[in-house]
Amino acid sequence: MAGSSFPTALISGGAHGIGAAIARRLASGGYRVVVADIDPARQADAEAAGARFVAADVGSEPDVGRLVDGIAAAEGRLDALVCNAGIMIRKPIAELSLSEWSRVLATNLTSIFLLARAAEPMLRRAKGAIVTIASTRARMSEPNTEAYAASKGGVVALTHALALSLGPDVRVNCISPGWIDVRGEKLTAADHAQHPAGRVGRPEDIAALAAFLLGPESGFVTGAEFVADGGMTRKMIYEE
Ligand SMILES: NC(=O)c1ccc[n+]([C@@H]2O[C@H](COP(=O)([O-])OP(=O)(O)OC[C@H]3O[C@@H](n4cnc5c(N)ncnc54)[C@H](O)[C@@H]3O)[C@@H](O)[C@H]2O)c1
Repeated sequence: MAGSSFPTALISGGAHGIGAAIARRLASGGYRVVVADIDPARQADAEAAGARFVAADVGSEPDVGRLVDGIAAAEGRLDALVCNAGIMIRKPIAELSLSEWSRVLATNLTSIFLLARAAEPMLRRAKGAIVTIASTRARMSEPNTEAYAASKGGVVALTHALALSLGPDVRVNCISPGWIDVRGEKLTAADHAQHPAGRVGRPEDIAALAAFLLGPESGFVTGAEFVADGGMTRKMIYEE
């Protein structure tokens, strides 16, 4: 339906985990939701959450072009862009191939450039907002995570650059999650207790913050990074 009167949201990687929680939250908040995900097996899950599913690799320029043109034709507007798709390859740097490095950078960082560039006209018309999903790993690391950490540092920087370029029409903010349980892991009491907030994070924790950053109550907030990690990055780790 071209020119829908409902606000429209596009969520990359929105068929599982944090992105799926954001899709459910925005659909229940009155958005028409489009989920772009590389995994076609997850189409039914996205549709059950109330979204239109588009199979797309958001690191691919032609796929992003088709995706955004499709929204212009079907929904006719775009008010909210959530750049959430992300992958991690954990390997010693000596074993990390250039193609693996490039796949992580394309999925986690280049996708945001491609999506923001393609969606700019519709987002400006709607006076919309972008939320990017980085990570606390933009600022701290475990060994063997070079590509992921570099990509997420790039996401934080790209967020403030976009906020300056697209403002005042479009606000752009970033969420850096800590440990969010997206696979129903067997969590121990120690897993929860190590967090100052007393528990491991849930996808819904990030969805609530994303909904706020996309909505009218955050109208004075742009170019910012919000850490949602249960306090882990504020914790001294000296041993007694
Ligand atoms: N879960 C965490 O603890 C955590 C912590 C910090 C940051 N993050 C970030 O949050 C985001 C979501 O993570 P998650 O844990 O929900 O991941 P997930 O693996 O549960 O879901 C990611 C989704 O993205 C899709 N995807 C992957 N590559 C894609 C591509 N090229 N194009 C389109 N879709 C693609 C996958 O098919 C999947 O449905 C990622 O950017 C991740 O780096 C997650």
